[in-house]
Amino acid sequence: MPPEDMLSLQFPVPHVPKNPVLGWASFSRTGPSPTGDAAMPSVLSLPHRRDVTSARVAIALALQRLGVGRGDRVLVPAYHCLSMVEPVVFCGAEPYFFPLTPRLEVPLATLEGFDLSRVRAILVTHYFGFPQAMRAICAFARARGIPVVEDCAHAVFGRADGEPIGSWGDYAAVSLMKFFPVYDGGCLISASHALDDLDLRRPSRRFEAKALVNSIERGLFYRRFHGMQTAARTTLMLKDAMWRTFKRLRGARSATPFAYRDPAASDGVNGLDPAWLDRRISFASQQLVERLPVARIIARRRANYLKLDAALRALPDARPLFDTLPDGVVPYVFPLLVERPERVFRRLKTDGVPLFRWERLWNDEAARVDPLSARYATEIFQLPCHQELTDADLDWIVERVQAAFRAASSP
Ligand SMILES: Cc1ncc(COP(=O)(O)O)c(C=O)c1O
Repeated sequence: MPPEDMLSLQFPVPHVPKNPVLGWASFSRTGPSPTGDAAMPSVLSLPHRRDVTSARVAIALALQRLGVGRGDRVLVPAYHCLSMVEPVVFCGAEPYFFPLTPRLEVPLATLEGFDLSRVRAILVTHYFGFPQAMRAICAFARARGIPVVEDCAHAVFGRADGEPIGSWGDYAAVSLMKFFPVYDGGCLISASHALDDLDLRRPSRRFEAKALVNSIERGLFYRRFHGMQTAARTTLMLKDAMWRTFKRLRGARSATPFAYRDPAASDGVNGLDPAWLDRRISFASQQLVERLPVARIIARRRANYLKLDAALRALPDARPLFDTLPDGVVPYVFPLLVERPERVFRRLKTDGVPLFRWERLWNDEAARVDPLSARYATEIFQLPCHQELTDADLDWIVERVQAAFRAASSP
């Protein structure tokens, strides 16, 4: 089997990466001028930080440290992905969904009318990297004795109300895979609460190896290591062949099937496995996060977002969710709000455009509380704008999206 096909088995379409992939360019200190953005703060630099394997684990740990448990309620935004709710339920608490404004802000006036008697925390999400009004939210929550967990899964850099994003809440949770080319990684962070007592263990050697190989493998698949593609691919093919043989032999010898699980976040699925709650991030991912230059990440994400914004703003029956990209925002994706989304969604997915949406809410209650969030689950298309997209990748995405809308509007 040719190398391309071998690798395609593990990485089917799309051929434009949805998340950052490692390559020579990831280490580059040149590129678009960082201007003032280089000085942009990062939640990763706040005083207290422990690195785990995903943001959902970090949210669960934050809730545990706040003493959230059975019989408690946690305020959760009605527009969500399932992995934002998993940690709440894991802690034994009930998600108490609240609606959002059309720009996904927290409507404090509406929350005034909620029964807050059993609420032990509020999860505040900086959607797509755009900050919430944290000063007002924290004033509201603290006046009622409700701790705040900032969901910074989409917001690693930037400010909220003039302060570093993530520094307002009691705790913040970060998802490193969304901003760095790593297989695993999330952070529990706090500006105010020490985290030294958190007892974290090293992951298994198998997982350490997998995290390292996976980052390189993905980079090779997307051709980001010019000059060493052939040699490295051959080595990885050999590794795959050995691994398959090992699994076959082990499966034949063992009475129980050979099975292991990586963190759900690394496998791209929802869920929270308690086995990963006390595990540190892998060494390879940690090193990459510490060493990769961030000015390029900040500048390229902003530039890519603006390019998509300029090209897709005039689409019929669609518009960017946000009118502008303010200074101090480093976007996670470019959110496009699409009317009658089914006309174009399947076609784009079939074409291999690496867009996604949250599809469904946790339960009917969330949709009842906020019909707008229920609509947004299918109407907000999340298009990638990460630092490893090339100009050719972006041109291709734009061309495919425009073609899909043209086809949908022609009689
Ligand atoms: C807003 C938000 N919060 C939390 C999470 C959970 O992040 P992780 O996959 O690192 O657990 C996600 C994941 O997609 C997310 O989009």
